Amino acid sequence: MARLEIKDLKLSFGSVEVLRGVNLHVPDRTITALMGPSGSGKSTILRVINRLIELYPEARVKGDVLLDGRSIFEMDVVELRKRVQMIFQIPNPIPNMSIFENVALGLKLNRLVNNKKELFQRVKEALEKAQLWEEVKDRL
Ligand SMILES: Nc1ncnc2c1ncn2[C@@H]1O[C@H](COP(=O)(O)OP(=O)(O)O)[C@@H](O)[C@H]1O
Ligand SMILES: [Mg+2]
Repeated sequence: MARLEIKDLKLSFGSVEVLRGVNLHVPDRTITALMGPSGSGKSTILRVINRLIELYPEARVKGDVLLDGRSIFEMDVVELRKRVQMIFQIPNPIPNMSIFENVALGLKLNRLVNNKKELFQRVKEALEKAQLWEEVKDRL
């Protein structure tokens, strides 16, 4: 069974048809690349599969997307987005929140740390892995 299956996906923004019946099987434990010219609908497909497209009032979606055999449109959207994430070309830190708080958010929401010391350590590690620690350590 495909991990992710897109079935006859159609999408229009207002009267402009952007996706005209897309079918795709994404097998488990693979890296799959969508390739195509600029404007062909790659980012739009990605926005459909974690339902970010619902934030665009003019977008009309038809067809189905199954994750492990279940329609994503019948799932709790927060649970879906914990499993299907989109990493943007341009980073989107949450405004009015410090660098530290931005990095710590996921750990806090999911209660993955026990105390402040551990939280600081995990945030530092994440920033080091992203080669950002030296640049931001004095303005966390
Ligand atoms: N919010 C929107 N409103 C109207 N048209 C849009 C919107 N977002 C994308 N489009 C149009 O949908 C098409 C596909 O865009 P996109 O998915 O960003 O393509 P790609 O990622 O392959 O470059 C383009 O013609 C683009 O202009
Ligand atoms: Mg794109």
